[in-house]
Formats: sequence, C-alpha cells, structure tokens
Amino acid sequence: MEGPDGSGKTHVAAAVRDALAERGIPARLTREPGGTAVGDRVRAILLEHAPDEPPLAPRADALLFAAARAQHVAEVIEPALARGEIVLCARYADSTLAYQGYGRGVDLDTLRRIIAIATDGLVPDRTILLDLPAEAGLGRKTPDSHTRFEAAFDVAFHQRVRAGFLEMAAREPERWVVIDADRDADAVFDSLVSSALEVLP
Ligand code: TYD
Repeated sequence: MEGPDGSGKTHVAAAVRDALAERGIPARLTREPGGTAVGDRVRAILLEHAPDEPPLAPRADALLFAAARAQHVAEVIEPALARGEIVLCARYADSTLAYQGYGRGVDLDTLRRIIAIATDGLVPDRTILLDLPAEAGLGRKTPDSHTRFEAAFDVAFHQRVRAGFLEMAAREPERWVVIDADRDADAVFDSLVSSALEVLP
C-alpha cells in the first residue's frame, strides 16, 4: 500500500486486515520504514526532524531506507510468504522511488539497483495507491505529528512524490490499483477491501 503523506495508509491497512480476518483470511500487517526491531531504530533516524543537524543526503536516505527494508524482507516478509500468509505492507520500495527519486532527484536506475539488492527482487503482487492531492494529505496531520518529510520538505516536493506514484501506477497497471483517497473514510475503505479481495487466490 502506497501513497503520499496523510493519505491514511496505516489506518486503512489495519481495517483491511480486520476485514480479511472476518472472511477467514489471515493477513500479516507490517510497515516501512520499520517492521522489525532494527528497522524501527533506523526509522527513528529517518523520520526524526532535527533542524539543528545537517540534512541527510538523498543517497544516505535511500540507503538507510534500503537497509531497513533488507532486514524487513529477510526477517518478516519472506518467512510469512513461505508460511503461505498474505502480507499487507504500508509502504515498500516504490516509496523510495517516489520520495528519494521523483521527490529528491536521485537517479531512478540507481535506486532500482539499491532496491533490487534490499528486496532480493521481491515485488508485491498488487500495490494499492491511496491517491490524494499533496496539500490535502499534508493538511490532515497536526504539526506535532509531522515526520521529517512533512516538516522539512515543501509542497512542491510532495507534489513530485504524488506525480511519481501516479506515473509508476500508469506504467505498470497490472500491478497497481489507484484509489481516490480524497473521499470519506468509508468510501475509501470499501474500495480498498474489494481491491484486496480481488488479488487473493
Ligand atoms: P510514515 O509516518 O510511515 O508516513 P505515513 O503515515 O504518511 O505513511 O512516515 C514514513 C515517511 O518516510 C513518509 O514521509 C515517506 C517516507 N519514506 C521515504 O521517503 N522513502 C521510503 O522508502 C519509505 C518507505 C518512506
């Protein structure tokens, strides 16, 4: 599950997991950056806004997200898939392409190489994009809940991120489903549950 900041991924991912469980389909819910103990420590470095420190360079960002992802894939995702479980992940490698690539300007092919190493080539069966205008997403969170990406990057950055997600979705329509997240929570949730059910065997 992907989307700009404030698109509600974490909240709806949990609701989808519950809806699948009610239908007797257990799913493992996880998130990036994080999903493991070490990943959560890397997450703290990545998301803390420390205005007094020199900013993290874009490639340092990409490599830290990738390090957390490599651990997440090895420790959580691959074992869960090997047990036959469905994995629902709030953000994955496409966030690196959208934020560090389209947003911060790191070369996309360089990022694809880093991602391939981190994931060992593991690509989601289906990626759901919760799409909404950057301003709407940023307006949904209170300033005290802002991560570094909301506090330190301007609206133009978040507009590039959104455009990047939409471009990736358009290029690979067999994997991506785009859901209009600029609607009330119930409508977004209904669209999501049907997409999630569609992808299941
Ligand atoms: P998070 O609180 O999970 O955001 P949200 O709840 O809005 O999804 O914060 C994750 C932030 O990290 C978010 O701003 C996107 C950014 N990010 C990247 O820049 N690259 C990545 O590879 C990932 C996974 C996240």
